[in-house]
Amino acid sequence: MERKLRDAGIVSLSTAVPPRVLTNADMERLFDTSDEWIRSRTGIRERHIADPEVACSDLATEAARKALERAHLAPDQVDLVIVATVTPDHYVPSAACLVQDRLGATRAAAFDLNAACPGFIYGVTVARQFVAAGTYDTVVVVGCEVLSRVADPQDRGTYVLFGDAAGAAVVRPVSPGRGILASVLGSDGSGAPHLIIPAGGSRRPASSETVEKREHYLRMNGPEVFRFAVRVMEESSLQVLERCGLNKEDIDLLVPHQANIRIIESARKRLGLPPEKVIVNVDRYGNTSSASIPIALEEALSQGRLHDGDLVVGVAFGAGLTWGSVAMRWGS
Ligand code: UT7
Repeated sequence: MERKLRDAGIVSLSTAVPPRVLTNADMERLFDTSDEWIRSRTGIRERHIADPEVACSDLATEAARKALERAHLAPDQVDLVIVATVTPDHYVPSAACLVQDRLGATRAAAFDLNAACPGFIYGVTVARQFVAAGTYDTVVVVGCEVLSRVADPQDRGTYVLFGDAAGAAVVRPVSPGRGILASVLGSDGSGAPHLIIPAGGSRRPASSETVEKREHYLRMNGPEVFRFAVRVMEESSLQVLERCGLNKEDIDLLVPHQANIRIIESARKRLGLPPEKVIVNVDRYGNTSSASIPIALEEALSQGRLHDGDLVVGVAFGAGLTWGSVAMRWGS
């Protein structure tokens, strides 16, 4: 007998952003760069940077705790904690286990998910499966990064781009027709060298030589990632709409990964959307990878730009290479 799946969706959101801000003027003091170059090539004006003692699980726990409070849920009601991150506190144990413990989510399973910038989209998609199937009722999904720890402070080409932050969502059963309607997840590992931390893993374990060669820092082929991003942001948005039998005209709010204003603008124009239907905050946060979509969503909600019944499309691309999109009918 076929078992009916439950509708599942985001019932609350929260963020944790470190208070310290580095502006483009600060970057001018660190590198041979200019506010003009950074703004015109990326749209970024400033980014938040964690203090040295703050790690991924600190920001993730703060965001998750606030998201649970907003949903009026106690930590022991959580069934699963997923932390989407490429900058966990440690390789072992997972950041999710540290968050689970500090939340007091004593009944919860916990794991990290590495899908780079689309990590939050991957995370809510996984959460939806568990909730839809009836396996779990309450899943906390956190997108959290401390990218300032893996960006090379001697590389102006990457260091100016990234910021630190966390965004958390609680995924629960929702009313019929509400919540996550469809997702599209994709990967192309042939593009792995375009965005990579070469050393520190089992391929090239950390050694004094890898540190000397700065191979524990992120390396990026910017123009290659840019071309890929422009293509998949449009394609993936259209594919997820097709999966729910909808068109680009049906979009009420596009929440694109906040990496570069030129990539966001290209997606907006290709999808034929007016500026007011697209969330942009890359100017104030830079690229926060897996935190970027939940932070933008939360901002849209707190600014009153997200209404019950709205069709929201989130779309992202990142290291892997990976991409992902999710279509949601907002409301619970
Ligand atoms: O979440 C996924 C993460 N990655 C991305 O989203 C990256 C996607 N790519 C991009 O956003 C863009 O490729 C960048 C913003 C990274 C770079 O912009 P671009 O227009 O593709 O510039 P470019 O890499 O082709 O570099 C152009 C010039 C170079 O100088 P030359 O070789 O033309 O003399 C760079 O050395 O700009 C120079 N440059 C800088 N100049 C001043 C690179 N970084 C800087 C900088 N300040 N910070």
